[in-house]
Amino acid sequence: SEINVTEELIRGIRGIHIVACGSAYHAGILGKYVIENVARIPVNVDVASEFRYRMPSPLLSPDDLFIVISQSGETADTIAALRLAKSKGAKVIAITNVKGSTISREADFAMHTQAGMEVAVATSKGYLTQVLCLYMIAAEIGRMRGELDVAQYAAFVENLKKLPKQLEEVLADKAVVQQLASQRFMDVNEFFLGRGMDYALMMEGSLKLKELSYIHSETYPAGELKHGPIALIEKNTLVMVLATQSALLEKLVSNIKEVKARGAFVVAMTQKHNKELLQKAADVVLELPDAEDLFAPILAAVPYQLYGYYTAVCKGCDVDKPRNLAKSVTVE
Ligand code: BG6
Repeated sequence: SEINVTEELIRGIRGIHIVACGSAYHAGILGKYVIENVARIPVNVDVASEFRYRMPSPLLSPDDLFIVISQSGETADTIAALRLAKSKGAKVIAITNVKGSTISREADFAMHTQAGMEVAVATSKGYLTQVLCLYMIAAEIGRMRGELDVAQYAAFVENLKKLPKQLEEVLADKAVVQQLASQRFMDVNEFFLGRGMDYALMMEGSLKLKELSYIHSETYPAGELKHGPIALIEKNTLVMVLATQSALLEKLVSNIKEVKARGAFVVAMTQKHNKELLQKAADVVLELPDAEDLFAPILAAVPYQLYGYYTAVCKGCDVDKPRNLAKSVTVE
């Protein structure tokens, strides 16, 4: 309701650009997969500090919809990207958690995540609610452009409404994540793998570990590992694999075998109904509620946020104020 864009505008756009920084950028990547899946319109995602310096200038047309995502609404690079987009005549939607923030005020439309005040430097509920806003935008664009019929739209909304209860189930399982963190907190590097939406989610899973526990970790599309990074896998390297997309499960099982053959310790995460299949390949399988593929990655965000948290606690790191980081970088 906060984004009263007309159906005519939405039907007229040729593409969507999403620009943000940090975890907000990761939300944008996941948003790309959802919007392209549901609304069938191309989405380009960029970090704000790259977008604003595209040479000679970013390729942007007035027919493009421009979405900026910012928890604080004050990140300098994201503000600059918003102003650049407006100067090129693009319509700008902001997804932000702070009403009255610069980005909230300067965008054409502002959608507020209503996550409540976020105090810790590394975001958690901010990221989760940004992702939810992108799901809602995907559904509205899909409906307005005739990609979702009434029944499909209603089913989509019903799946979103199931999430709070499913997330309660995930939180109830947090001891399993805490135990894994207590076994692995001495790692010096870890890999986070996934395909499709799971890959997008793992970007945030990996960043949480880096930000909070200072353990180096990398996210890779699981199909990409063989093109180089697999050289880094050695005995007992921890490889996290998120596998919620049924169409990609078999591929991920073979990726698990690939890294296990090189000595990796593999922790997979999937919905309950896939657990048995993954138990044949991975060392540990963390279980998610039986959500539909399109919605399962949202549930996976919380265990990986908790994993970074518990690992940091085991290492005695300051979870709320990690070294070198700021809650909002308001200068370049
Ligand atoms: C970083 C924060 O400084 O800025 C991250 O530590 C955040 O948590 C990023 O994702 C972007 O901030 P914002 O407020 O624009 O979402």
